[in-house]
Amino acid sequence: MFLGVNIDHVATVREARKTFEPDPVLAAGLALLGGADGITVHLREDRRHAQDRDVRLLREVVPCELNLEMAAAEEMIRIAREVRPDLVTLVPEKRRELTTEGGLDMIGQKAHLKESIRKIHDAGIPVSLFINPHIMDVDLAREVDADMVELHTGLFANAEGKKQHEELHRVMEAAKVAGKQGLTVNAGHGLNYYNVAQIAAVEGIRGLYIGHSIIARAVLVGIERAVREMKGLLAGAAGKKGH
Ligand code: PXP
Repeated sequence: MFLGVNIDHVATVREARKTFEPDPVLAAGLALLGGADGITVHLREDRRHAQDRDVRLLREVVPCELNLEMAAAEEMIRIAREVRPDLVTLVPEKRRELTTEGGLDMIGQKAHLKESIRKIHDAGIPVSLFINPHIMDVDLAREVDADMVELHTGLFANAEGKKQHEELHRVMEAAKVAGKQGLTVNAGHGLNYYNVAQIAAVEGIRGLYIGHSIIARAVLVGIERAVREMKGLLAGAAGKKGH
Protein backbone atom coordinates (compact mmCIF):
# COMPACT_ATOMS: atom_id res chain seq x y z
CA MET A 1 0.00 0.00 0.00
CA PHE A 2 1.38 3.36 -1.07
CA LEU A 3 1.84 5.89 1.75
CA GLY A 4 2.00 9.60 0.98
CA VAL A 5 3.05 11.64 4.00
CA ASN A 6 1.65 15.16 4.31
CA ILE A 7 4.24 17.45 5.92
CA ASP A 8 2.07 20.59 6.27
CA HIS A 9 2.01 20.42 10.06
CA VAL A 10 5.78 20.76 10.19
CA ALA A 11 5.41 24.01 8.29
CA THR A 12 2.62 25.05 10.68
CA VAL A 13 5.03 24.80 13.62
CA ARG A 14 7.65 26.81 11.73
CA GLU A 15 5.11 29.49 10.80
CA ALA A 16 4.09 29.81 14.46
CA ARG A 17 7.40 31.68 14.89
CA LYS A 18 8.12 32.63 11.25
CA THR A 19 11.55 31.13 11.69
CA PHE A 20 13.68 28.53 9.87
CA GLU A 21 12.74 25.49 11.94
CA PRO A 22 11.38 22.91 11.70
CA ASP A 23 11.95 22.78 7.96
CA PRO A 24 9.28 20.73 6.16
CA VAL A 25 11.78 19.95 3.42
CA LEU A 26 14.09 18.23 5.92
CA ALA A 27 11.04 16.50 7.41
CA ALA A 28 10.18 15.20 3.94
CA GLY A 29 13.66 13.71 3.60
CA LEU A 30 13.31 11.95 6.94
CA ALA A 31 9.82 10.71 6.04
CA LEU A 32 11.30 9.17 2.90
CA LEU A 33 14.06 7.52 4.96
CA GLY A 34 11.29 6.09 7.12
CA GLY A 35 9.67 4.48 4.10
CA ALA A 36 7.19 7.06 2.81
CA ASP A 37 6.39 6.40 -0.84
CA GLY A 38 5.55 10.02 -1.54
CA ILE A 39 5.30 13.47 -0.02
CA THR A 40 2.24 15.70 -0.02
CA VAL A 41 2.22 19.43 0.53
CA HIS A 42 -0.84 21.69 0.49
CA LEU A 43 -0.07 25.18 -0.76
CA ARG A 44 -2.93 27.30 0.54
CA GLU A 45 -4.00 30.62 -0.84
CA ASP A 46 -3.30 32.24 2.56
CA ARG A 47 0.11 30.46 2.88
CA ARG A 48 -0.68 29.62 6.47
CA HIS A 49 1.72 26.64 6.49
CA ALA A 50 3.63 25.64 3.36
CA GLN A 51 5.33 28.45 1.47
CA ASP A 52 6.18 28.67 -2.23
CA ARG A 53 9.83 28.06 -1.35
CA ASP A 54 8.92 24.74 0.29
CA VAL A 55 7.13 23.52 -2.81
CA ARG A 56 10.04 24.45 -5.07
CA LEU A 57 12.64 22.83 -2.80
CA LEU A 58 10.50 19.73 -2.35
CA ARG A 59 10.38 19.37 -6.12
CA GLU A 60 14.17 19.34 -6.11
CA VAL A 61 14.68 16.84 -3.30
CA VAL A 62 11.74 14.42 -3.53
CA PRO A 63 12.74 11.70 -6.00
CA CYS A 64 9.41 9.87 -5.81
CA GLU A 65 5.81 11.15 -5.88
CA LEU A 66 5.46 14.80 -4.96
CA ASN A 67 1.74 15.47 -4.60
CA LEU A 68 0.74 19.14 -4.63
CA GLU A 69 -2.60 19.68 -2.95
CA MET A 70 -4.25 22.90 -3.98
CA ALA A 71 -7.46 24.73 -4.80
CA ALA A 72 -8.48 24.92 -8.45
CA ALA A 73 -7.45 28.60 -8.58
CA GLU A 74 -5.56 30.45 -11.33
CA GLU A 75 -2.58 31.27 -9.10
CA MET A 76 -2.16 27.64 -7.98
CA ILE A 77 -2.51 26.28 -11.48
CA ARG A 78 0.25 28.63 -12.62
CA ILE A 79 2.53 27.47 -9.76
CA ALA A 80 1.78 23.80 -10.48
CA ARG A 81 2.62 24.26 -14.15
CA GLU A 82 5.94 25.85 -13.19
CA VAL A 83 6.95 23.46 -10.39
CA ARG A 84 5.69 20.32 -12.11
CA PRO A 85 4.80 18.02 -9.20
CA ASP A 86 4.17 14.36 -10.05
CA LEU A 87 0.53 14.76 -9.08
CA VAL A 88 -1.87 17.60 -8.37
CA THR A 89 -4.72 16.90 -5.96
CA LEU A 90 -7.51 19.45 -6.24
CA VAL A 91 -9.27 20.17 -2.95
CA PRO A 92 -11.93 22.63 -1.84
CA GLU A 93 -10.44 25.41 0.24
CA LYS A 94 -12.11 27.75 2.69
CA ARG A 95 -10.18 30.48 4.46
CA ARG A 96 -11.58 29.88 7.92
CA GLU A 97 -11.36 26.07 7.98
CA LEU A 98 -8.87 24.33 10.27
CA THR A 99 -8.31 21.66 7.65
CA THR A 100 -10.00 20.52 4.45
CA GLU A 101 -13.57 19.92 5.54
CA GLY A 102 -15.02 17.76 2.82
CA GLY A 103 -14.72 16.64 -0.75
CA LEU A 104 -15.10 18.86 -3.79
CA ASP A 105 -18.49 20.17 -4.82
CA MET A 106 -18.57 18.03 -7.95
CA ILE A 107 -21.90 19.29 -9.23
CA GLY A 108 -21.46 23.02 -8.63
CA GLN A 109 -17.82 23.07 -9.74
CA LYS A 110 -18.06 20.61 -12.61
CA ALA A 111 -17.26 22.98 -15.47
CA HIS A 112 -14.57 24.82 -13.50
CA LEU A 113 -12.90 21.55 -12.49
CA LYS A 114 -12.93 20.25 -16.03
CA GLU A 115 -11.26 23.42 -17.29
CA SER A 116 -8.71 23.40 -14.43
CA ILE A 117 -7.85 19.76 -15.10
CA ARG A 118 -7.37 20.54 -18.78
CA LYS A 119 -4.87 23.29 -17.93
CA ILE A 120 -2.95 21.02 -15.55
CA HIS A 121 -2.99 18.16 -18.06
CA ASP A 122 -1.59 20.55 -20.69
CA ALA A 123 1.57 20.68 -18.54
CA GLY A 124 1.68 16.86 -18.47
CA ILE A 125 0.67 16.56 -14.81
CA PRO A 126 -1.91 13.95 -13.71
CA VAL A 127 -4.78 15.14 -11.51
CA SER A 128 -6.49 13.58 -8.53
CA LEU A 129 -9.76 14.92 -7.10
CA PHE A 130 -10.49 14.84 -3.38
CA ILE A 131 -14.11 13.71 -3.34
CA ASN A 132 -16.70 12.49 -0.90
CA PRO A 133 -17.16 8.72 -1.19
CA HIS A 134 -20.37 9.00 -3.19
CA ILE A 135 -20.98 7.11 -6.41
CA MET A 136 -22.29 10.22 -8.14
CA ASP A 137 -19.09 12.13 -7.34
CA VAL A 138 -17.01 9.26 -8.70
CA ASP A 139 -19.00 9.40 -11.95
CA LEU A 140 -18.49 13.16 -12.15
CA ALA A 141 -14.74 12.77 -11.52
CA ARG A 142 -14.58 10.55 -14.58
CA GLU A 143 -16.62 13.03 -16.60
CA VAL A 144 -14.22 15.90 -15.84
CA ASP A 145 -11.25 13.73 -16.93
CA ALA A 146 -9.58 13.19 -13.55
CA ASP A 147 -6.91 10.48 -13.49
CA MET A 148 -7.38 9.58 -9.85
CA VAL A 149 -9.67 10.18 -6.93
CA GLU A 150 -8.81 10.52 -3.27
CA LEU A 151 -11.81 9.37 -1.26
CA HIS A 152 -12.49 11.54 1.76
CA THR A 153 -12.29 9.35 4.88
CA GLY A 154 -12.97 12.15 7.36
CA LEU A 155 -16.56 11.14 8.09
CA PHE A 156 -15.47 7.53 8.59
CA ALA A 157 -12.70 8.69 10.94
CA ASN A 158 -15.05 10.84 13.02
CA ALA A 159 -17.86 8.30 13.24
CA GLU A 160 -18.30 5.49 15.74
CA GLY A 161 -20.01 2.11 15.87
CA LYS A 162 -22.77 1.49 13.33
CA LYS A 163 -22.31 4.90 11.73
CA GLN A 164 -18.61 4.20 11.18
CA HIS A 165 -19.50 0.89 9.57
CA GLU A 166 -21.85 2.72 7.19
CA GLU A 167 -19.14 5.22 6.29
CA LEU A 168 -16.68 2.39 5.67
CA HIS A 169 -19.24 0.78 3.39
CA ARG A 170 -19.56 4.05 1.44
CA VAL A 171 -15.79 4.12 0.93
CA MET A 172 -15.84 0.48 -0.23
CA GLU A 173 -18.62 1.11 -2.74
CA ALA A 174 -17.02 4.29 -4.08
CA ALA A 175 -13.65 2.52 -4.44
CA LYS A 176 -15.30 -0.31 -6.36
CA VAL A 177 -17.08 2.00 -8.78
CA ALA A 178 -14.04 4.24 -9.25
CA GLY A 179 -11.89 1.22 -10.09
CA LYS A 180 -14.47 0.06 -12.65
CA GLN A 181 -14.37 3.53 -14.22
CA GLY A 182 -10.61 3.20 -14.68
CA LEU A 183 -9.74 5.75 -12.00
CA THR A 184 -6.82 5.13 -9.66
CA VAL A 185 -8.24 5.17 -6.13
CA ASN A 186 -6.62 6.67 -3.03
CA ALA A 187 -8.05 7.68 0.32
CA GLY A 188 -7.20 10.08 3.08
CA HIS A 189 -8.12 12.45 5.87
CA GLY A 190 -8.41 11.69 9.55
CA LEU A 191 -6.60 8.37 9.30
CA ASN A 192 -4.60 7.43 12.37
CA TYR A 193 -2.83 4.54 14.08
CA TYR A 194 -6.16 3.17 15.34
CA ASN A 195 -8.42 3.38 12.30
CA VAL A 196 -6.06 3.02 9.34
CA ALA A 197 -6.20 -0.78 9.09
CA GLN A 198 -9.89 -0.76 8.13
CA ILE A 199 -9.33 1.61 5.22
CA ALA A 200 -6.07 -0.09 4.16
CA ALA A 201 -8.06 -3.32 3.80
CA VAL A 202 -10.57 -1.82 1.34
CA GLU A 203 -10.36 -3.54 -2.04
CA GLY A 204 -9.06 -1.38 -4.87
CA ILE A 205 -7.34 1.34 -2.86
CA ARG A 206 -3.85 2.05 -4.16
CA GLY A 207 -2.64 4.47 -1.52
CA LEU A 208 -3.33 6.50 1.58
CA TYR A 209 -2.42 10.11 2.28
CA ILE A 210 -1.78 10.78 5.97
CA GLY A 211 -0.56 13.88 7.77
CA HIS A 212 -1.81 14.85 11.21
CA SER A 213 -1.45 11.55 13.05
CA ILE A 214 2.07 10.91 11.75
CA ILE A 215 3.34 14.39 12.61
CA ALA A 216 1.56 14.24 15.99
CA ARG A 217 3.31 10.97 16.79
CA ALA A 218 6.64 12.32 15.55
CA VAL A 219 6.42 15.14 18.12
CA LEU A 220 5.88 12.65 20.93
CA VAL A 221 8.41 10.02 19.91
CA GLY A 222 11.00 12.74 19.33
CA ILE A 223 10.53 14.88 22.44
CA GLU A 224 12.65 12.77 24.80
CA ARG A 225 15.67 12.84 22.48
CA ALA A 226 15.25 16.56 21.81
CA VAL A 227 15.27 17.35 25.54
CA ARG A 228 18.28 15.09 26.10
CA GLU A 229 20.19 16.92 23.36
CA MET A 230 19.42 20.30 24.95
CA LYS A 231 20.51 19.00 28.35
CA GLY A 232 23.73 17.78 26.73
CA LEU A 233 24.40 21.30 25.43
CA LEU A 234 23.72 22.78 28.86
CA ALA A 235 26.04 20.26 30.53
CA GLY A 236 28.74 21.07 27.96
CA ALA A 237 28.36 24.81 28.59
CA ALA A 238 28.47 24.31 32.37
CA GLY A 239 31.76 22.41 32.00
CA LYS A 240 33.31 25.43 30.25
CA LYS A 241 32.42 27.95 32.99
CA GLY A 242 35.47 29.79 34.32
CA HIS A 243 37.65 28.91 31.30
N1 PXP B 1 -5.87 14.34 1.94
C1 PXP B 1 -6.28 15.60 1.77
C2 PXP B 1 -6.91 15.98 0.48
C3 PXP B 1 -6.12 16.57 2.77
O1 PXP B 1 -6.53 17.83 2.59
C4 PXP B 1 -5.48 16.18 3.98
C5 PXP B 1 -5.24 17.20 5.05
O2 PXP B 1 -4.35 18.15 4.61
C6 PXP B 1 -5.06 14.85 4.10
C7 PXP B 1 -5.29 13.95 3.09
C8 PXP B 1 -4.38 14.38 5.34
O3 PXP B 1 -5.29 14.39 6.38
P1 PXP B 1 -4.80 14.19 7.87
O4 PXP B 1 -3.88 15.34 8.18
O5 PXP B 1 -6.05 14.20 8.67
O6 PXP B 1 -4.07 12.87 7.90
